[in-house]
Amino acid sequence: MGLLKNIWYVAGWSDELADGGTIARIIAGEPILLYRAEDGSPAALHDECPHRFAPLSSGWIKQGKVQCAYHGLIFDRRGRCVHNPHGTAVSALDIRSYDVVERDDFLWIWLGDPAGADIMSIPDMSMLASQPDQTLIRGYLHAAAHHQLMVDNILDLSHADYLHKEAARFADSSDDPSLITPRYPNPPKVEEIGDRLSVKWLSERATPIEIWQRELPDPSADADMFSEVVWYPGGAMALLTGVNQSGKDRSAAAFSPAVHAMTPETEETTHYFYAVKRNYRVDDTAYHEQLATTLVDAFSNQDQPMIEAQQRRMARQSFMAKKPALLSIDVAAARARRIYDRLLLSEQSVAT
Ligand code: FES
Ligand SMILES: [Fe+2]
Repeated sequence: MGLLKNIWYVAGWSDELADGGTIARIIAGEPILLYRAEDGSPAALHDECPHRFAPLSSGWIKQGKVQCAYHGLIFDRRGRCVHNPHGTAVSALDIRSYDVVERDDFLWIWLGDPAGADIMSIPDMSMLASQPDQTLIRGYLHAAAHHQLMVDNILDLSHADYLHKEAARFADSSDDPSLITPRYPNPPKVEEIGDRLSVKWLSERATPIEIWQRELPDPSADADMFSEVVWYPGGAMALLTGVNQSGKDRSAAAFSPAVHAMTPETEETTHYFYAVKRNYRVDDTAYHEQLATTLVDAFSNQDQPMIEAQQRRMARQSFMAKKPALLSIDVAAARARRIYDRLLLSEQSVAT
């Protein structure tokens, strides 16, 4: 198979590069060093010295240039070797640099053909900025699973009814998992917009789950619950979940915008960046702490172990080769895989 290169990936959080910080991270199989150049803008270099392949991330950064810690070659932000203590800094010593853009508190990197690095195609995660900073809950997980298994988890939110059944339950639900009622009785509406996918789950005129019931003016009255995801082929997803009283305008909804970015590290491992905000209980610090604990527990102790267990079961066989059973809840994940495969095929056919 392989991994897309002609795509914007989340490489890290913008503030990981604060105060002289650096990031050494493998992204889609490429070792990358991220740091801030002299003007403060982010720079990204192939994290491998051309001499003996030492990681440049073990070296030193001075005035926006990186010096290899092994035998002292120095590179500028464009990857040009600007100093060779043992001879001439010839162009054969240059290394690859990458386009990197800072936007919506993320660092976005383009690993493929630089000619295709159009900043207009950077995923839009601006909805996160619309909510107050004190509501932010964010984190990073390193998962031993293929990034598409991680993406499935967000594109099919029906798993919350089961895997997160304590947190996402209906008030009157039984403890018996065989009696669980799905939050969304119908499959989502899925729409392709260019290479993106819009996925909308809706439950109208229904009893809301307990956590949402508490946020409604009339908890006993019917409500509409919604979950909307925009998936980008680099694995970044913008998610909006919320609730509003049935018959009332969506502008009165209690909602939570979130980013879930599943950046492939390799074909079997994933960097998972998540950031969640909300428009309700914005100054309730006790609620904030409790929500953070619940979310971190859900992502780290419920989602991640399940997805890693899936990966182990697959034991290096490809997902499709195992002929997965297709359920109505899989419509979005299946479409995302089709788009991904189409882009990958077209990228690889150009490369060969
Ligand atoms: S490995 Fe970098 S200078 Fe020798
Ligand atoms: Fe989950």
